[in-house]
Amino acid sequence: MIPFARHCAVAAESDYVTACLHSGSTSGDGPFTRRASALLGQLLGVERALLTTSCTHALEMMPLVLGLQPGDEVIMPSYTFSSTANAFALRGVTIRFAEVDGDRWSMGPDDVTPLLNERTRAVVAVGYNGVSHRLAELEALCARRGVPLLVDAAQSLGASHAGRSVASYGALAALSFHATKNLSCGEGGALVVNDASLLQRAEMVREKGTDRSQFLRGEVDKYTWRCVGSSYLMSDLNAAVLLAQLESFEAIQAHRHAVWSAYRSALEPVSERLGFTLQLIGETDGHPAHLFGLLLPPGVERTALLAAMAEAGVRATSHYEPLHAAPAHGGSERLPVTDAVAARMLRLPIHGEVSAEEAARIAALLISLLERDRSGGKP
Ligand SMILES: Cc1ncc(COP(=O)(O)O)c(C=O)c1O
Repeated sequence: MIPFARHCAVAAESDYVTACLHSGSTSGDGPFTRRASALLGQLLGVERALLTTSCTHALEMMPLVLGLQPGDEVIMPSYTFSSTANAFALRGVTIRFAEVDGDRWSMGPDDVTPLLNERTRAVVAVGYNGVSHRLAELEALCARRGVPLLVDAAQSLGASHAGRSVASYGALAALSFHATKNLSCGEGGALVVNDASLLQRAEMVREKGTDRSQFLRGEVDKYTWRCVGSSYLMSDLNAAVLLAQLESFEAIQAHRHAVWSAYRSALEPVSERLGFTLQLIGETDGHPAHLFGLLLPPGVERTALLAAMAEAGVRATSHYEPLHAAPAHGGSERLPVTDAVAARMLRLPIHGEVSAEEAARIAALLISLLERDRSGGKP
């Protein structure tokens, strides 16, 4: 069975982990963390990336860093992972779920505008496959309204918009190094701090609400509890794996792009005939080949199709269930574009152990199943 996702191991990982174990220093902000966060900052073109235990935790830091309170509102797409919403719901913040664009599958400025009001304290953009919809315009809109833009960049390592990395947008951006992501250290993440005025508070929130980071740099002579925070530091062991992954970033990305392009070039010529939709990648967007998704033709039974693919040895999958209609939210909003995207989404395997040739074969399998469906047979 070709798995849907897989950690792509690189040679230096085990050497770095062994070196870390023997160094006697395995907790957060050790030498591997320093090297990994510097390299990450360089790759993203940002000044400061704080390594965290996960993207979920980097997101959870956001309302604490901004000091959001119950009754405040944030706007985010409904078509995202539960962590984007949980981070704010945990602080009693009211979430206003926005639509996504039907072609890019991400929320843009036109989706946000109707939800902005005097209680809005932040807007959280999420790039689906790293493709954020008119992100620079969204940034300008937020600036005009005096509302911080935050970016859930879990899928955006390697993504760019208008010549800048996606994670360089917004006051804060959160990245993921979960095993399903382009680079992985098992569980891990980063909080990118683009607004320098938030850096000191972000460091404290990450270090159990203390000024320990400043103490370690010799800027204060003792450290103390300064604000509400938690333990969000990545262990140096995870950072050792992450550093090896970051050093292999170009090769990992080149492989993922070859797989992504093999899917695209096999599927694009038949998409109109078979009635499925591929993601629109805007001219100013650089996608990171994080996932390969498509919207199935209306009426195709996805569960049966996934089962037929699994029977042929390929693990494909659907994606997010919209949060506006999820049991934890119980809202009454109607978001028809989001509902349609979620109902029709199918993702194909993309990782270090799928070759471009296999991707072409998987695409051919999908085409044959869709053709069978059209001719009246079950997929
Ligand atoms: C958009 C989005 N945000 C946040 C997360 C959570 O990332 P992590 O598993 O690193 O906590 C995910 C996970 O897939 C995600 O897709």
